[in-house]
Amino acid sequence: MQTELCKRLGIEFPIFAFTHCRDVVAAVSNAGGIGVLGAVGFSAEQLKIELDWIDEHIHDRPYGVDVIIPNRYQGQDEKDPDKLRALISAAIPQGHRNFADELLDAHGVPRLPEDRKVSGRLMMTEATSAPLIEVALEHERVRLIANALGTPPPDIIKQIQDSGRMVGALCGSPKHARYHVEAGLDFIVAQGGEGGGHTGEIGSAVLWPEVVDIAGDIPVIAAGGVGSGRQMYAALALGAQGVWSGSIWLTVAEAASTPVMRDMLLAATSSDTVRSKSFTGKYARMLRNAWTDAWDSGNNPSSLGPPLQMMAITNAMVRIGRYPEQAREVMFAPVGQIVGRMNEIMGTRELVMEIVHEYLDTHERMSALLPSTQ
Ligand SMILES: Cc1cc2nc3c(=O)[nH]c(=O)nc-3n(C[C@H](O)[C@H](O)[C@H](O)COP(=O)(O)O)c2cc1C
Repeated sequence: MQTELCKRLGIEFPIFAFTHCRDVVAAVSNAGGIGVLGAVGFSAEQLKIELDWIDEHIHDRPYGVDVIIPNRYQGQDEKDPDKLRALISAAIPQGHRNFADELLDAHGVPRLPEDRKVSGRLMMTEATSAPLIEVALEHERVRLIANALGTPPPDIIKQIQDSGRMVGALCGSPKHARYHVEAGLDFIVAQGGEGGGHTGEIGSAVLWPEVVDIAGDIPVIAAGGVGSGRQMYAALALGAQGVWSGSIWLTVAEAASTPVMRDMLLAATSSDTVRSKSFTGKYARMLRNAWTDAWDSGNNPSSLGPPLQMMAITNAMVRIGRYPEQAREVMFAPVGQIVGRMNEIMGTRELVMEIVHEYLDTHERMSALLPSTQ
């Protein structure tokens, strides 16, 4: 299963693991795949601490970093984070903040003490991502940088490529794959609609080969619903050079998921997710709950685009994080439909090896279907 992309990155298995947890990044890379750290929630200072830690635990293996710069968003010409924060904050209707707070009141989530209230956190912009990329490029073992929600700006593509790293981006439609090709990206992650986090509507089995055909020589990594060796085999059969998964790493032993989140994920079935704009302002797949229902009830304010929606609900998110037991019904739990197969806690290396072994078994089974040459 050593694809050209594996050779280029120096990895044994074409398994790309997206995670917000440094322990999982290190464990996947050390097991022969490649961990990719989602950096969107970190400040530049925090990210440096995480990447320094990974460097110490990764034994010369490669890893990646992921940021979020949407194609289009309000205030995108403003590159100064402080000015952009003020601009965006002023544009958020008070009704959105109130709706979020009252929803939490209705579900018995305690209010924050006055000194813990947060006015809004700015994320998912070029202004906040550029410093993260700077930090990533200071770390030699970071061999790839990916962007969610759009083709990265040309100067960022150049900056990453000039440093000798690969730059890529996720996409959920053929149209966006074409933009990535035109921009000269080094790889494309094609994410089917069953995937967790930001995701389009087109299913993986349809999207992957469509993007492979558009991409030509650019390697495509298949995302959305991959949790087993059989699914990896199918992805490679459809022309992908690797699989990129996010959900399955949320319930590995090394994951930093809270006990409440872990229990909810282990109990959920593949029918329990929904695509909703209610947290980030862009469609993302997550567990369906009272929060997602309320933002789709007809009595809700319509979700704002990024980065406004996330900023509008920052205070609610901090409340949820502080009182997770009371917030079960309104918690942000991004995950894909593969959650239905996430039923036990496994070690990260064990999961990587299980995928590899099932892939090999599948290969044997498929080969046995061919007519004998003897
Ligand atoms: C909890 C969670 C958070 C995610 N956050 C990001 C993100 O910040 N940036 C990104 O490029 N993708 C993000 N994704 C999407 C993953 O990178 C990956 O494409 C997706 O999980 C693949 O589908 P799967 O969930 O079925 O494995 C996230 C996914 C999950 C489950």
